[in-house]
Parts: sequence; C-alpha cells; structure tokens
Amino acid sequence: MIDFKHTDTPIDFEIVRSKVSESGLTDMGKTTIRELVRLVNKIEKATSKKFVRMEMGVPGLTPPEVGTNAEIAALKRGVASKYPMIEGLEELKFETSRFAKLFLDIDVTFEHCIPTVGSMQGAIATFLITCRRDVNKDTTLFIDPGFPVQKQQHRVLGLKYETFDVYNYRGEKLKDKLESYCSKGNISTLIYSNPNNPSWICFTDTELRIIADVANKYDIIVMEDLAYFGMDFRSDYSKPGVPPFQPTVAKYTDNFILLISSSKAFSYAGQRIGVVVISDKLFDRSFPDLKRFFVSDKLGYAMIYGSVYSLSAGAAHSAQYALAAMFEAVNDGSYNFIEDVKEYGERAKIMKQLFVNNGFTIVYDKDEDLPLADGFYFTFSYKNMSGSELIERLLYYGICALSLEITGSEHTEGLRACVSQVGFDQMETLGKRLQIFNEHHS
Ligand SMILES: Cc1ncc(COP(=O)(O)O)c(C=O)c1O
Repeated sequence: MIDFKHTDTPIDFEIVRSKVSESGLTDMGKTTIRELVRLVNKIEKATSKKFVRMEMGVPGLTPPEVGTNAEIAALKRGVASKYPMIEGLEELKFETSRFAKLFLDIDVTFEHCIPTVGSMQGAIATFLITCRRDVNKDTTLFIDPGFPVQKQQHRVLGLKYETFDVYNYRGEKLKDKLESYCSKGNISTLIYSNPNNPSWICFTDTELRIIADVANKYDIIVMEDLAYFGMDFRSDYSKPGVPPFQPTVAKYTDNFILLISSSKAFSYAGQRIGVVVISDKLFDRSFPDLKRFFVSDKLGYAMIYGSVYSLSAGAAHSAQYALAAMFEAVNDGSYNFIEDVKEYGERAKIMKQLFVNNGFTIVYDKDEDLPLADGFYFTFSYKNMSGSELIERLLYYGICALSLEITGSEHTEGLRACVSQVGFDQMETLGKRLQIFNEHHS
C-alpha cells in the first residue's frame, strides 16, 4: 500500500483503501480495464459518489436511428431465424465497397468486404490467416502503443509477436526502425490503429508510405485498424467522395487488410458488427502454407470459409442490415457520422486543459511537428510518479484511468484517459478533483 500525506480526499479515504486492499490488485499498472471497472463500481457503490470514469472506451453517444430502425425492420421480417451467408449480406458488402471508395478513395471489389463480429473478431480471423500463410513468417510486428486484446489474441492462438513504441520513431525515423525488424524475414504482419488507441497519434502520409514501402519490400501484410475511422477532427473527412480522405496505407500498397468497426464511429458497439476489407490483389493470392490449416491456399477464400466460418459462421444477420443502412446513409450524404462524434474532440480539449492546468503533462503530444488532435483518448502523466502509483492515488480523488504499461508503451509513467463517459456536466468536478490532487501532491 502506498503512503498518503493527506487523507481528506474527495472520496472517503478509508473506504477506497479497504476496497483497493480487498481487490487484491497489487500492481495497478498491470490491471486490465475490466478489473478496474469492477473495483471502481464497488467504490462507487460503497461511497455513493460518482467517479470521473475514463478507463473504458465505451461509446457515450446514441446510435444513429437509421441503423437501429434498419435492424428492427430486419428482425421484424424474421431474419433472426435464418443463418446469414458467411461471406456476408450483399447489401452490406456493396455499401462497404462504396464506403471505401468515397471515404478512403480506394477501389475494393464488394466480394472482398467481409462482415465480422466487431473488429475484435475481424482481427483474430485475420491473424489466423496472415500469421500462418508462410512457415518462415511466423511473427507479427505491433507498432505500439496498441490495443492490448490483440496481443491477448496472439497468446491464445500461440502466435509470436514483436513490438516497439513508435514515440521516438515518428516521421522518417520510422523507416530504419521498421527495417531493423522486417529485414530479419520473420515478420508476417504489421499492425497498428490509426487514429491510435491509446495515444491518439495519427500517422501522417509520410509514415503510411514508409510502412507500405517496407511491407512491399518484404512482402508483409499490413493490418490497418480503423476503429476510430475519420475521428481525427483536425481534418474534415465527412464528405463522401470529396477530399481530404481518411489517410490509409491502402493508397501505397496492395498488401493491406483494413478493419472497420461500427463501434465508435457509429456508436454501435453493443451489436458487435464490423467489416474486414481485403485488397483485391491479396484476396486472390495463393499461399501454399495455408493448406496446412485450410482447404484452399487462396487468402480470401481461406479467410471466409476457413477462418470466419470456424469462429462464428458469419456475423449477426440483423446487425449486418443496420451497418448496411448506416453505410448507405453516409455514402449517399444523407447522414454525417463525423458530425455526431465530434463531441468527443470538444470534451478532450477541455479535459486536457484541466489536466495541464493542474500540474499534469500530456505524454503523446505530437504528430511529427503538428500538435495532436483532440479525440476519443489522450494520455497524461504526473511529475515523475509511476503509472501504477498514479492510478491508485487518483482513485482517492474519484478519477479512474488506464495504465499505458499494458499497451506496449515505454511510457510506463503515463495513463490513458478515454473521454467517452465524461459528460460536459462532469467537467467542473474533474477540474476540482484534479486541483485538490495537485495541492495534495505539490
Ligand atoms: C484499436 C481498436 N481496435 C478494435 C477495437 C474493437 O472494435 P469492435 O468493438 O468493433 O470489436 C477497439 C475497441 O476499443 C479498438 O480500440
């Protein structure tokens, strides 16, 4: 247990202390999101005090009606009784291909767009293929920080991975760093999210081109996780067919697989629906080593009828109708999905300022020479306190955030804050609590 000079904390000191002790969590830096959620729920219940909850990336907005209405209508038509086709609903595949053209400015045939049970399943289904397509390429390279569950997926599949924190390798410096891993010849897959969970860095076109060049040189597949599609609000990516477009590695390589999630961009997390978009060239490529696991050595065929089939035999029928309708509405320009989620950026701007005003530092703060965007996440640290200690201390002040330690970041002093559950009505409380924290620790 850490020592406290002040026990007059905003949340009852003795209750927090006993709940932390009961939880058995000895190192908060290694605590998972769900463990923290459980602990804070218990403290909230025991103290009847509401926390400023920044630990979990749950969408905090209402899903668009066009999606829920389409899903309800599909259910009323009775789709629930029928298995969906594993390759996905034609309408959804078609609208995904249009979406790729209109918002990424890339051409992908509709057959190569595959619905999955969220991007979480999209990732595991893809790893099953990309990491087993060549016996000599058995390792994934994570451009970190990243989404911890994808490493968990590697562990449960018995797959190898390497990782580095991109913090010191932005811009041209990324090239040599990637070369140092990829030239060894064992890397099958490169993965990153853009915008990035947890740091909210966004790769520039220079960096995406470097990633693509290295992938082309060593025949590596790039998995680009677009869970936060279009949510770098510094640019307006909301107009169909009109530049600027969401930056993507797909502009520079044919070795791409994109993960598009409905969870954050469409606030549709509960229905667990996303799509995997495979490049036309890659989809039809043969990899003889796939035959060890699948009936076909063709990447796309193995993905649908081998990987997605064995995981869940496709994605929920009604949710596919919902996503098809949402894509159709944004493709037609009748619904602006980015306008709906822009609020996250406004919240982040205020929250970051409150942290900085009270002695905190923003950890990941730049994209090359541009200040970072305000969006779904930001990262912060306090003086030279370790991340583990900071999480624990903040609990006494009614604030909860996640350690960067579990995300592959070298900045173990930092925490990730998610803005989605913090409404404008909580900003004053957050400011006051941070102020008391700073006074107590100065
Ligand atoms: C980077 C990243 N990828 C994937 C996911 C999961 O997406 P889905 O809800 O579609 O499974 C998340 C969710 O937080 C994420 O942050």
